[in-house]
Amino acid sequence: VVVALGRHLALVGFMGAGKTTIGAKVARRLGRAFVDLDAEIEQREGTSVAEIFERRGEAAFRAHELRAGLEALRRSEPAVIAFGGGALGSAELRAAILDHAFTVLVDVDVETAWERVRGGSRPLARDEASFRRLYAERQPLYETAADGRAADVDGVVLAAAGIHVEAGALERLGELVPGAGPVEVVTDARVAGIYGMEAQLALGSRATATHEVPAGEEAKTAQVVERLWRALRLDRSGTLVAVGGGATTDVAGFAAATYLRGVPWVAVPSTLVGQVDAAIGGKTAIDLPEGKNLVGAFHWPVRTVIDAALLETLPEAELLNGRAELVKTALLAGEDWWELPPAEAVRRCAAFKAAVCLRDPHDRGDRNQLNLGHTFAHALEAAADFDLPHGRAVALGLLAALRLSGLATDVVDEQLRPEPVRIDRDRAWAALARDKKAVGGVPRLVLLDAPGSPRLGVELPAADVRRALDSLIAG
Ligand SMILES: NC(=O)c1ccc[n+]([C@@H]2O[C@H](COP(=O)([O-])OP(=O)(O)OC[C@H]3O[C@@H](n4cnc5c(N)ncnc54)[C@H](O)[C@@H]3O)[C@@H](O)[C@H]2O)c1
Repeated sequence: VVVALGRHLALVGFMGAGKTTIGAKVARRLGRAFVDLDAEIEQREGTSVAEIFERRGEAAFRAHELRAGLEALRRSEPAVIAFGGGALGSAELRAAILDHAFTVLVDVDVETAWERVRGGSRPLARDEASFRRLYAERQPLYETAADGRAADVDGVVLAAAGIHVEAGALERLGELVPGAGPVEVVTDARVAGIYGMEAQLALGSRATATHEVPAGEEAKTAQVVERLWRALRLDRSGTLVAVGGGATTDVAGFAAATYLRGVPWVAVPSTLVGQVDAAIGGKTAIDLPEGKNLVGAFHWPVRTVIDAALLETLPEAELLNGRAELVKTALLAGEDWWELPPAEAVRRCAAFKAAVCLRDPHDRGDRNQLNLGHTFAHALEAAADFDLPHGRAVALGLLAALRLSGLATDVVDEQLRPEPVRIDRDRAWAALARDKKAVGGVPRLVLLDAPGSPRLGVELPAADVRRALDSLIAG
């Protein structure tokens, strides 16, 4: 199991790790029910866990735990389930968790755990020596059972989405690609020149071939995909690893989705756009002469490796494209992540997008919020014959979305310095009316009630939308 898509998300770990607090927050982020097993048992039995231990003994408690745990795992709707610290002690429960859930170890060191629980009512936290002994005994059990490991809410969401965030992670790519089978690398010519060798070294003998695709949007064509299909030698035990920007991960992901009706793939995004957006959420695509991203597939990568160190070689113009998506994501989250050190901002944005996509993997509802500003951006790009940096178009699109939302635009002004573009107004308007989400020529917009509160499918009078679009165009 590599991601929690469509599966229960089981939280395991020692007492005091924060499974209940973190679990409740993760469940809210993923739009899932939260089951806290201890609380569930207390409610059913009408008494506290401590009481059950005291009056009926640990064996009786374990029997309740097994029953409640199996029931929770049998629920058909994927939930977030927090298991008690001793739950993995039961072979039967352990096997059921393995069968039905993606498991994340909520990590805590023994000192922190003891500080949190000492003096409380937990029956197994009465004296420090036995507490430490129990920790040493149980921790290996958690580690073996867990598919991922985390210590905070974002960390659990990222683990659930198969996303590994670590500066310098490229060096450890060999261990980060799940499984032990062969790996074929897809990368663009420029990225190959900078990181190709390091990726090869990290993959060691697992790397059996490298395929180069053109740098940038030119890679996203049917011809390039056909070349990949014909060059790949992987069987289903192998993994395709894409190293590069959004164009590379889009085309490589699409090749992985279709080759042999689907082989696993790993995304290693090397641009800011890739790390906060393109490599997250399982959308893959190529372009047609008729339009961008018209052919594609949903094919979630088994792992996404986000290494902020790769951004050091990224040209400023490419960073700007990513910054526009970063500001968009932060506006949707209602946070000022643009103030954070870049690596931290990337982690927050990646976790935000991952949660939205886990909630709505096939873009049937909530995920549409990620289009904030993009309806305008796409229209501007089309009217400019795509001779307009995406980040500049998104910056302008965000400006329009904020104005139509009746909100201040200072963040976009300060962070992205949007500059009006010189294009044909009628062409831009026509492109806006052709938007995939338009109904009867009037686009449905994503706006904000406030930062952090997106409103989807908003229909405004055409004149207002046109005025907002016009204000983005110079001359
Ligand atoms: N699938 C999705 O959900 C999704 C979301 C957003 C965007 N996208 C797609 O992503 C694409 C844009 O991706 P992008 O902005 O990452 O650009 P890109 O992939 O076109 O790369 C831009 C340029 O940066 C170079 N580059 C990449 N990494 C580098 C590094 N570390 N150092 C130096 N140079 C580097 C590349 O060689 C290329 O020339 C578009 O095709 C878009 O449709 C997809």
